[in-house]
Formats: sequence, structure tokens, C-alpha cells
Amino acid sequence: MLRAEELRKVFRTPRAGVVEAVRGATFEVAAGEVFGLLGPNGAGKTTLLRMLATIIVPTSGRCFVNGIAADEAPDQIRASIGFLSGNTRLYGRLTGREVLHYFGRLYGMRDRDIRGRVDEVSALLGMDEFINRRCDTLSTGQTQKVSIARVILHDPQVLILDEPTLGLDIMTSTAILSFISDARARGRAIIFSTHYMSEAEMLCDRVGLLHQGSLFAVDSKAALCEQSGTADLRAAFLKLVEERELPRP
Ligand SMILES: Nc1ncnc2c1ncn2[C@@H]1O[C@H](COP(=O)(O)OP(=O)(O)OP(=O)(O)O)[C@@H](O)[C@H]1O
Ligand SMILES: [Mg+2]
Repeated sequence: MLRAEELRKVFRTPRAGVVEAVRGATFEVAAGEVFGLLGPNGAGKTTLLRMLATIIVPTSGRCFVNGIAADEAPDQIRASIGFLSGNTRLYGRLTGREVLHYFGRLYGMRDRDIRGRVDEVSALLGMDEFINRRCDTLSTGQTQKVSIARVILHDPQVLILDEPTLGLDIMTSTAILSFISDARARGRAIIFSTHYMSEAEMLCDRVGLLHQGSLFAVDSKAALCEQSGTADLRAAFLKLVEERELPRP
């Protein structure tokens, strides 16, 4: 359903010079699959997800949703994608409900459908208690729930989530993880990044390991453990990243 072909992103900044943030990532995420993106800070996860979500244009390479190239039909692609970025901003003076209405309209939904869907999403993510409060009065976790609700409102086929559980308590992160698992059961394709190995272990059908811009391994947890001779994903991740950091003879 989602396919990345040789995606590359090079940033050129006056100070840092040339940064090769992603160096040729190729992989697929199928319908009904959860794909986890793991990598150290600065590895290129956010950059890769932003390219998939058509927020930034790749330096080279392409992405496809259902075989349609993102650069050929950007509007159509955006309508079938929900993207949660680390710095999604809400509108402080609006209530959660108002924000969701606003985005529902942007997604081209009808008012009647929006109302029903907002109630549904609110119940799903446990937002009823605070959905009528102004966004600038919400806690971190409550804000994150509104952000996620915004992204899933139009029930997109592809979910691209950048660290969806960052800073959340275990009840809230469990609610988000079970939402992801339900979305998989409904045939959605999901890719998400995380630093929490337990989440990836629990949820992901396959995992991609990113290190200094290179997507150097894409496989199931079991295969990565076997390849690295380790018992769990955390150990496999540490070992495989460490091997790449060793000076070459
Ligand atoms: N807009 C930009 N301009 C210049 N360099 C950038 C830009 N965005 C990202 N980078 C650089 O690209 C590299 C990858 O960054 P990215 O944010 O994708 O990493 P990440 O894997 O998401 O890290 P983290 O785990 O800390 O979120 C870093 O070296 C970063 O400094
Ligand atoms: Mg990031």
C-alpha cells in the first residue's frame, strides 16, 4: 500500500553544510501491517516520515500510495494519509472539538459526518472529559490525543506517526497502541517511529533500522534477533547499530 523507492534527502545549510539525512531508503508497508522505524537520535526517521507524508520533497527517489506516485497526485495522496508529526500545533483558543471540526472541513468531510466521527474518535481515545476545553489548557497527553484524533479523523488508509507515544503516561500510550493495532485489523498500513523498544516489540510486524541516514535492515523482529544472535529487539538493535559504528579494518 505504501512504497518508498530509493528515497534520499540532502539538506544544505550555510552553517552545517551538507547533511545527508536519508540515503536511499527502499521498503514497503502492506495493508494490515505495522512497520516500526527505529534508529538513534538524528538517524533520519523524522525526515523519512516527512517525505512519505509529502511534507518535504525528496532530493531523489519516490514514494507511492496504492501505486500512485506522490509527486504526480499530491492531493489524492494526502487525502489517503494521516500524518502525526512531532510538532503538530493546535489552535490554543479553540476547543478540541472545534479543532477537529476545522480539520474535518479541510479534509472535505460533511458537517454531519464530522459530528459523528468526532464523537467516535473522542470515545476511542478517551477524550470526552476534555474535548470541549480550549487547547491551550490541555496537558501534554491530552494535547497529543487531540493531535492524533485530528490525524485519524478522515480514517485514512495510511498512517504515518512520528513518535506517537512520546511523553505519554502508560494508560494513554496503551490507548494509542491499541488504536494502532485496531487500525491494522481494519486493513490500514501503519508506519511509526519510536525509541521505545517494548512498543516496537509488541506491535510491529516488521522493523526498519535506520542509522546515519541508512536504512540498513528491514525485517521481522525474529529475523533481526537471529541475524544478530540476540534474544530481544533491544539487544538486536544495540548490537546491529554498534557493529555499524565500529571502525572498519
Ligand atoms: N530542515 C533541516 N535542515 C537541515 N538539517 C536537517 C533538517 N531536518 C533534519 N536535519 C538533519 O537531518 C538529520 C536527521 O534528522 P531527523 O530529524 O530526521 O532525525 P531523527 O531520526 O528523527 O532523530 P530523533 O530521534 O532525534 O527525532 C539530522 O542530522 C538533522 O540535524
Ligand atoms: Mg525525529
